[in-house]
Amino acid sequence: MRTHYCAQINEQHNGEVVTVAGWVSSRRDHGGVIFIDLRDKDEVLQLVCDPADNAAAHKIAEDVRDQFVLIATGTIRPRGEGLENPNLKTGKVEMVVEKLVIENRSKPMPFEIGDEKVNEEIRLRHRYLELRSQRSYTIFKLRSKATIAARNALDELGFLEVETPILTKSTPEGARDYLVPSRVHHGEFYALPQSPQLFKQLLMVGGFDRYFQIAKCFRDEDLRADRQPEFTQIDVEMSFCTQEDVIQIAEKLIYNVFTKCGFEIPGTFKRMTHHDAMEKYGSDKPDMRYDLAMVDVIDIFERCDNEIFSAIAKAPKKNRIKALKVPNGDNIFSKRQMKGFEDYVRKFGAQGLGYFQMKEDGLKGPLAKFFTDADLQAIIDRCELKTGDAVFFGAGEKKLVLDYMGRFRIYLAETMEIIPKGTFEFLWVVDFPMFEVEDGRVKALHHPFTQPKSLDYEDIEEIESIAYDIVLNGTELGGGSIRIHKEAMQSEIFKLLGIGEEEAQEKFGFLLDALKYGAPPHGGFALGLDRLIMLMAGTDSIRDVIAFPKTQRAQCLLTQAPSNVDNEQLKELGLRVRQTAAIQ
Ligand code: AMO
Repeated sequence: MRTHYCAQINEQHNGEVVTVAGWVSSRRDHGGVIFIDLRDKDEVLQLVCDPADNAAAHKIAEDVRDQFVLIATGTIRPRGEGLENPNLKTGKVEMVVEKLVIENRSKPMPFEIGDEKVNEEIRLRHRYLELRSQRSYTIFKLRSKATIAARNALDELGFLEVETPILTKSTPEGARDYLVPSRVHHGEFYALPQSPQLFKQLLMVGGFDRYFQIAKCFRDEDLRADRQPEFTQIDVEMSFCTQEDVIQIAEKLIYNVFTKCGFEIPGTFKRMTHHDAMEKYGSDKPDMRYDLAMVDVIDIFERCDNEIFSAIAKAPKKNRIKALKVPNGDNIFSKRQMKGFEDYVRKFGAQGLGYFQMKEDGLKGPLAKFFTDADLQAIIDRCELKTGDAVFFGAGEKKLVLDYMGRFRIYLAETMEIIPKGTFEFLWVVDFPMFEVEDGRVKALHHPFTQPKSLDYEDIEEIESIAYDIVLNGTELGGGSIRIHKEAMQSEIFKLLGIGEEEAQEKFGFLLDALKYGAPPHGGFALGLDRLIMLMAGTDSIRDVIAFPKTQRAQCLLTQAPSNVDNEQLKELGLRVRQTAAIQ
């Protein structure tokens, strides 16, 4: 229907007759002459309807309103002196309209397209209108480019794209399953995959050597700004590989995707052990765009004259006393801010937050009196303090202290506005523990198919696994591991997780069987595609990068899913709905 997209039109077309098609983004009537900004997928062209040039087109233009669909034919000419718009590719020209067709009309908009401040509920209900904005188009163009770049990079690296089932059996990744009832087998359910984890391992047993998939995954979990119930992974698996091989493939993939999308990043990324990430940054996904690392001072506090601190310090395995230095902190924080910091950490279970100020004449602060001069000097040396610095202390049970000091580190960086924008800091976090114990229950930290480094242990939480996460700017972008490829080891891990033999057979019998038929050593990883695009596009909400996202309450406001189904359908499925109170 068109001869050109708007973005293609410039001064070289002056005097040429062209046809463009799109939506009215604005219409102005300047005493007889009507100006229309016509927008197609990604650019605007100014149309001029002057009754002196073409009375018929002007008559039609009188009827035109915002977001009407138009096809316009006319001659391109330079804009008048001083009327150029440097913000548009087409800003030096305009079209004198000779033929105007209204292809479709539009009701008045429920919100102004591109206005991000409008209530999100209204925008999601009419998501197709929000998608009409320049911002959305730019994001989805980036997403398309990144997906294609990933596919091409993996293809070039010899990976085979294989689709795995959506109607399947539960694949545990730590969330609840979405279930689909079977019509043929009443009382039985498929689970939607939380990830293609088990199928990709089976493809390795099938001899495919290198597999990938742009895979839809489904997890019924509490939603956050970077989580959706339905999301996409770039899922990868390879055989006869070490952790090093997998990391190199992931780096090549990420490098390719970023550079093809126009971002500069290094070809290899820093690494840190899980232990160091937790001890220094109180997080398994530290943001490396800024420093603010924690330092251990438990040995110095053991000697202090304060009973609470010295008691905590007497159990250095169970407890932690961590110092967090803020360069220049004493100069920049007010008393009220210091108090506010304490209130902040208390929300996460801290008893309090100690601090020292580094003055000209030494360390000062409410805690100073408990230390000898030598120990105050030891703190200065350990934390490398300079005049004007502040240093905060968290003390107590290990997990608690690392958690609230880790959160505090982020809070400080945000408060001090020291997080650089537009930079990408990647980090591999390696050597994850295999298990964690929560309320006396043993859980796999990654998933139960991850290979432990060894199964000799005194404390089960000290077993390390060959598992790694890739972190970007403090967000977990992806993760993976070398897998267990021997049936005996897999059965042993199930046992440690408290999964009995019968349950293991019932849930994972197919995997245990496959491992008995010459399963090769294998490993892989998965990157969250939505999170990748979020970080590239510099947006805070995962909903911005998903064409038809769900709300925090897992609803699609556009289609009103989930919704009731009629009784006939339920009957066919052998289901009856009991009325219960909705989950809040
Ligand atoms: P994991 O569970 O770490 O690993 O998931 C991999 C990546 O997927 C993304 N992700 C999500 N994105 C949006 N919404 C969600 N609800 C969501 N959950 C996860 C994250 C995450 O890092 N099978 C393993 C991978 C492997 O071992 O190969 C897995 O799924 O970016």
